[in-house]
Amino acid sequence: CQQNVADSEKIKGFLAQMGFSFTEDEEEADFILFNTCAVRGHAENRVFGNVGALKDLKRRHPSLIISLCGCMMEEKQASEHIKQKFPFVNLVFGTHVLHRFPELLWTALTASRRVFERGDEQEDARIVEGLPIHRDGTTRAWLTVMYGCDNFCSYCIVPYVRGRERSREPEAILDEFRSIVADGYKDITLLGQNVNSYGKKLERPINFSQLLRMLDAVDGDYRLRFMTSHPKDATHELIDTMAEGRHICHHLHLPVQAGSNRILKEMNRGYTREKYLALVEYARKKIPDLSLTTDIIVGFPGETYEEFRETVSLVREVGFTSLFTFIYSPREGTRAARLPDPVPYEEKARWLQELCAEQEKISAERCAKEVGKTYRVLVEKQNEKDGLLCGRTDGNVIVLFEGSKELIGNFAEVKITAARNWILRGELIQ
Ligand code: 5AD
Ligand code: SF4
Repeated sequence: CQQNVADSEKIKGFLAQMGFSFTEDEEEADFILFNTCAVRGHAENRVFGNVGALKDLKRRHPSLIISLCGCMMEEKQASEHIKQKFPFVNLVFGTHVLHRFPELLWTALTASRRVFERGDEQEDARIVEGLPIHRDGTTRAWLTVMYGCDNFCSYCIVPYVRGRERSREPEAILDEFRSIVADGYKDITLLGQNVNSYGKKLERPINFSQLLRMLDAVDGDYRLRFMTSHPKDATHELIDTMAEGRHICHHLHLPVQAGSNRILKEMNRGYTREKYLALVEYARKKIPDLSLTTDIIVGFPGETYEEFRETVSLVREVGFTSLFTFIYSPREGTRAARLPDPVPYEEKARWLQELCAEQEKISAERCAKEVGKTYRVLVEKQNEKDGLLCGRTDGNVIVLFEGSKELIGNFAEVKITAARNWILRGELIQ
């Protein structure tokens, strides 16, 4: 997820300060790091496969340091599995001890022993400011405003591996934000598992809308986004702030997860279908050009086909720009993993197909209406294959068009000439 990307940029910041440079070629690497995800089983299995594939490389380059970090390494079983099954891995550390990376690497390099570190209660509650950052892009930047999650959705491992919600002080965020703007980044995303509960526990409490307004007041030619918003905590004040903002994108990622009230309750999401739809209605009224995206889990334990169809009907009713869809993956230690789960995986995979087919129809209908409109796009790169420039609208939609490379990193006015599956084709008008 974006939080992992942001963490990787911090580790790269440390490495750069230590004098490392970066390579994609594993043959010339002295240090290889996997930043892992724990949200679904599939990603975890891939990690084991990818690490296993390095065995021969390590045999040929015995001084190579192989390391794993990230959410999965906060899980005791996963870290133990690495310890037992992959003796050539030198260093394993979880998200809570990321700030100690230089010390951990130093130990792995000099003490000729394997290093395994995870968070404890104390680390769990801490925020460490002032870590170096080596940002990957030149136009987009990530800014973490809070860590952890207190929601305990019944399917989700995140609260167990990322710990309790804790917010950075607004002054620290503002300082970092100013420096990102000064460095020329033009698309800035504020990150947190549930940004709408930002600031609640601070000594001087502040809410997320207040934080947004404070950042939006910083002058400059940039766009401001945020993710992820939990529907149960998204307020009218948030929508109003988006509508009134100078830089805030008209894009809201609002994970609904399911369309049936029984499933939403089983998921412990804290809202109903009706409440979600009412929020969407308010948002669309205030921000007519709002682009909405969402996350959906198909095949939660005990979900029936009829309940799944309620998700499809909700998707139709809202008309999302795009969906991030997942088949339910049981995570050990979560409440949902203990529920009976009678529907076979193949059946769930068919449901997912059905949902995606519906979304494709919706996208096609919505896309057709884009032709002829003009968008201000931030140009991010030139495609290697066809030489087209690739930019992003305020609503987070990709636009391809012909133009000179000099436009990269700048805003351009582009008129849409064709649209397919939310990739828009356009021509430069300015
Ligand atoms: N199985 C499938 N999808 C999951 N997600 C979180 N936990 C699981 C799980 N156990 C999805 C949710 C969340 C997104 C980041 O990942 O949709 O919003
Ligand atoms: Fe997981 Fe729910 Fe927290 Fe999101 S809000 S990270 S889905 S527990």
